[in-house]
Amino acid sequence: MKNQITTMKIQTLSGYIHEYQKSIINPEQFWSRIADEFYWKKPWSKTLKWNFDEPKIEWFVDGKLNITENILDRHLYTMKDKPAIIWEPNDPKEDNRVLTYKDLYEQVCQFSNAMKAQGVEKGDRVIIYMPMVPEAAIAMLACARIGAVHSVVFAGFSSSSLADRIDDCKAKMVLTSDGNFRGTKKIPVKDVVDEALEKTSSVEKVIVYKRTEQEVKWNDNVDLWWHDAIDGQSKECEAEEMDAEDLLFILYTSGSTGKPKGVVHTCGGYMVWTAFTFQNVFQYMQGDTYWCTADVGWITGHSYIVYGPLLSGATSLMFEGVPTWPDAGRFWEIVDKYQVNQFYTAPTAIRALQAHGLEPVKKHNLDSLKVIGTVGEPINEEAWNWYHTHIGKTNCPIVDTWWQTETGGIMISPLAGITPNKPSYATLPLPGIQPVIVDNDGNELKGNGVEGNLCIKFPWPGMLRTTYGDHDRCKQTYFSSFKGLYFTGDGVKRDHDGYYRILGRVDDVINVSGHRMGTAEVENAINEHPRVVESAVVGYPHDIKGQGIYAYVIADLSTRTEENLTNEIRDMVANIIGPIAKPDKIQIVPGLPKTRSGKIMRRILRKIAEGNTDNFGDTSTLLDPGVVEKIIKNRK
Ligand code: WTA
Repeated sequence: MKNQITTMKIQTLSGYIHEYQKSIINPEQFWSRIADEFYWKKPWSKTLKWNFDEPKIEWFVDGKLNITENILDRHLYTMKDKPAIIWEPNDPKEDNRVLTYKDLYEQVCQFSNAMKAQGVEKGDRVIIYMPMVPEAAIAMLACARIGAVHSVVFAGFSSSSLADRIDDCKAKMVLTSDGNFRGTKKIPVKDVVDEALEKTSSVEKVIVYKRTEQEVKWNDNVDLWWHDAIDGQSKECEAEEMDAEDLLFILYTSGSTGKPKGVVHTCGGYMVWTAFTFQNVFQYMQGDTYWCTADVGWITGHSYIVYGPLLSGATSLMFEGVPTWPDAGRFWEIVDKYQVNQFYTAPTAIRALQAHGLEPVKKHNLDSLKVIGTVGEPINEEAWNWYHTHIGKTNCPIVDTWWQTETGGIMISPLAGITPNKPSYATLPLPGIQPVIVDNDGNELKGNGVEGNLCIKFPWPGMLRTTYGDHDRCKQTYFSSFKGLYFTGDGVKRDHDGYYRILGRVDDVINVSGHRMGTAEVENAINEHPRVVESAVVGYPHDIKGQGIYAYVIADLSTRTEENLTNEIRDMVANIIGPIAKPDKIQIVPGLPKTRSGKIMRRILRKIAEGNTDNFGDTSTLLDPGVVEKIIKNRK
């Protein structure tokens, strides 16, 4: 078994240009050489088979592997005592934990055996609804070890959202905790799972990690404590042989229509892609301590807390808490405490901390930082400059990484210290990524100095393969807007230097604090209120969150005050989706601007929410222009 991944790291700008060219001229040769750095139980017979029409994408065809052998077994030979995961608890007074690669190996194997003992088999779906503790990563890797498909659900989602996901993938098991710590709060997570189970029927067992020691309801037929489940289980567990295209995980994400869809990633391609992108973008060096502040409930946590770093033998820091508790210096205190070298966070966190001024930053020494990164939403120049000046002390390259749940890993980003930075630009595509910009009619806009819809024209190893249980939805959502292309849903500009700047979503998805939300999803939740007749939700610029949620609601106010009703609506949305989807502004309106065919003109509502009420463009198709005037008058 090979010990170390050696040849995949690009070190110079000319090296990047050269590798990029190679990846375009002969993608199969390029990726086959990189995949060869990993341990496969059986080599692949063909590197790539694909078409974007069905779509059907297969990488490393017939190759057999287990991703955890590349994370655990391989590193046992060379770095068994190296910290794999350093865990910092919510409360700085509580002890931290360090898991070496050997610890991780043993704990993953032990939990794998525990799940098997409870009847989990290859192909079964397991939902992970847990706090940010090492056991969340152990759970993911244990699923991968035995060939079960994990689906992590962010533990801030409501019981209905959790139930929808359990139902959609027919999960056999749920892994959770008694409660979660978040700042000063204790969140009763197990109660949420109990509620979700009342609405679903596929789950046979729930394994509960004891974290907060709060009271929980207990059903002996279903519930099992984590510590009891692993008791007596062996710390060795043979890794299941997986096909390169077997499912590794499902991760639910919002789209512009209907309920969240289960994005599917498979074992071989995702492994190659996350390790390759991690090493090149962050320029991780052995001995560095790397920290990504995301939650494992999102793709960033999957690819850049767990899989990418651990495949690369990195030390990955995991933080349970929030950036502002006990104070707004918490992130910087952690950077100092562990001498973090690469730090990866979201623009929304940067803006929130920026608002607290420089005092909390100045208290801590940030000299260990070499690379700082952002992900999840466009970063405005002001936040970029603040990050660059006050956190990076002007000598850390910023990697503004553009990618999506569907892309599995980073797609457009500087390579740290190699690609020259430009504030608010994600800069250049990674090797293997062929971006194209098309106008609304699908014509490719060639050359530099153009702006339009961002598409990708060739497969890369980490791309989604399908949406779980509904392949047609995958086809409709990503491969039907523009023939022969993967459509990202984002608008983009390619400037005169060929640098890419992401402009934000062009569909009905809004990005609130880096969290994707479908406007239709929020509307459906609002419409559940018995006094609501109809609603329309749009995004609007928000200083901290990037985008806020603005809801226009037609409602019957005969039994409540406007304030009571809007509070009830907010609670309703929090109950149905989760607190992150609560509208920031709710305006009760007498009607909505509609076309003669009954379609809501969201363009107008977006402009009003932005405070831009002078020029609505063509309004000739409006059924009742008077409605617009009335909405403007009572704008929130
Ligand atoms: C947005 C998060 C600008 C974009 C990894 C994308 C970004 C959506 C950036 C995916 C960036 C992500 N600059 N916008 N660096 N990174 N986005 O699936 O709109 O949660 O389509 O994946 O976030 O969000 P998702």
